[in-house]
Amino acid sequence: MSKTIFITGGAGFIGSHVVRLFVTKYPHYRIVNIDALTYAGNLENLKDIQAAPNYVFEKVNIVNPEEVTAAFNKYQPDGIIHLAAESHVDRSITSPLDFVYTNVIGTVNLLNAAKELWKDQYPGKRFHHVSTDEVYGALGTTGFFTEETKYDPHSPYSASKASSDHFIHAYADTYELPVIITNCSNNYGPNHFPEKLIPLMIHNIIHNKPLPVYGDGKYTRDWLYVVDHARAIDCVFHEGKTGEKYNVGGLNEWQNIDLVKLLCKQMDEKLGHPAGTSDKLITFVKDRPGHDLRYAIDASKIKNELGWTPSVTFEQGLSLTIDWYLANKEWLDHVTTGDYQQYYNNQYNSSI
Ligand code: NAD
Ligand code: TYD
Repeated sequence: MSKTIFITGGAGFIGSHVVRLFVTKYPHYRIVNIDALTYAGNLENLKDIQAAPNYVFEKVNIVNPEEVTAAFNKYQPDGIIHLAAESHVDRSITSPLDFVYTNVIGTVNLLNAAKELWKDQYPGKRFHHVSTDEVYGALGTTGFFTEETKYDPHSPYSASKASSDHFIHAYADTYELPVIITNCSNNYGPNHFPEKLIPLMIHNIIHNKPLPVYGDGKYTRDWLYVVDHARAIDCVFHEGKTGEKYNVGGLNEWQNIDLVKLLCKQMDEKLGHPAGTSDKLITFVKDRPGHDLRYAIDASKIKNELGWTPSVTFEQGLSLTIDWYLANKEWLDHVTTGDYQQYYNNQYNSSI
């Protein structure tokens, strides 16, 4: 094996797609999936590649520095692609400290372990931090986030990710650690945990449950198919300039209500329901506190410098996503039993 790469959070939504891409595209790399298997981590996401000779899973909680150091000593990674995080804004509003522990302290534990292992011997080494466009705050109805946009996070989630981004820069400036950051817009696709907008709506349509749209539904997000995000990470990890940051987005803005209506239309077609059936489930509910109005990414840097662009349209990606959920109802059943029901009742039952 020519290199050992740690992918943290590899059992999660985006992480599992990054692991799959790297394991299949780079058979000469040893890919170590570092994950604590929280409610969002699921090894079922990787069952097609779990027996690959260049894939290893290591259960590690990144909040625990001893566990992190032991994994670094055991595998001696050349590169880290860091995705492990608490990732859901609504959960960050009810449990902000969990986000500080994993997203801030967990990130610093990984930085310390990389600095300790590499001991200033940096050629061929890279720490790639996977972050979000939410660190830039919220846009009005016009404009885009660029790599120069000032950080202005609003939710506890985005504040914790902004803090982790600052630590990444601090380790580059102070210790010359070879870092790189990507800030990506909202992802969607297979294996997405049904607490986020798109998979929650798919799950509820399948079960004929209300579709909870926050506030007036006019909030806007830029959506990117998860496989295209994994391709962007591959591209930046291998071709990006050390010390730089790259925005990643789909140039694909949707107001939530329009997105939900498109989803309802595609679901009705695929389920053989009369047009308009799923629309009737749409229910406007209490708004999210501090709800960011709009995110939109200017992804020209990664396009112009590295040649990356999204490979699927939103209609294609959404159709592939729905097909995956309809073909994997067992996966959806597994992740929506137990704790999920409690989360769902706490989050929604006071409003619908
Ligand atoms: P996810 O919640 O689906 O998965 C997170 C993974 O991290 C899970 O496998 C979980 O078990 C693991 N994890 C959580 N806490 C851990 C800990 N203490 N130690 C080890 N592992 C732990 O998240 P996601 O949506 O796949 O997001 C992955 C990364 O990409 C995050 O850093 C997130 O901030 C970033 N991101 C996400 C989006 C998006 O739309 N989902 C967009 C841009 C950036
Ligand atoms: P989400 O998928 O949680 O991603 P993020 O908050 O990180 O952008 O939410 C996407 C948008 O959908 C956001 O504007 C909040 C809204 N939303 C709803 O209207 N209803 C819901 O049940 C959820 C989970 C989100």
